[in-house]
Amino acid sequence: MNFKDYIRVIHDYPQPGIRFKDITTLLQNGPAYRAAIEAMKAAVEHLEIDVVAGPEARGFVIGAPLAISLGVGFVPVRKPGKLPFETVQASYDLEYGNDSLAIHKDAIKPGQRVLIADDLLATGGTIATTINLIRQLGGEVVGTSFLIELGYLPGREKLGSGFEINSLITY
Ligand code: PRP
Repeated sequence: MNFKDYIRVIHDYPQPGIRFKDITTLLQNGPAYRAAIEAMKAAVEHLEIDVVAGPEARGFVIGAPLAISLGVGFVPVRKPGKLPFETVQASYDLEYGNDSLAIHKDAIKPGQRVLIADDLLATGGTIATTINLIRQLGGEVVGTSFLIELGYLPGREKLGSGFEINSLITY
């Protein structure tokens, strides 16, 4: 399946010069969505993953089904003020703007092998911060899995090394 055929590219959204990758056209197609998750699973299932973590909101629609298909749990990484229990937080830069992320303090157990999943690797700020949060809790990041990687941005370099970086689609 050519997954790019299911991604809609919107020019000049949300700012002039941005070619926004709209994944809703893939999500609304059952066979394409399922095939994408199955392909992402096949790329990471050798990693002996204990848990999948994903940042809101689009990281949920990729990370949660990926976790189910792997047979492991899912940990939401959220914007501040959304999680009800004690959290650790860190701030990050986005492709456009900046924000902070938070994770429940007891969401990851020390030594757990964590896969981070998201729809898009752009500048890498979101996932670099997610890696930071998971490591603060003693988790071992063993892989990252993206539906889309923007290869013309230095996201891959920003993430660092010591784990796999898997992307289903690259622009
Ligand atoms: C988008 C996307 C990734 C992140 C990628 O999320 O879903 O999480 O940006 O950009 P980066 O690699 O430059 O950090 P966004 O913060 O727009 O939130 P959303 O998923 O709630 O739309």
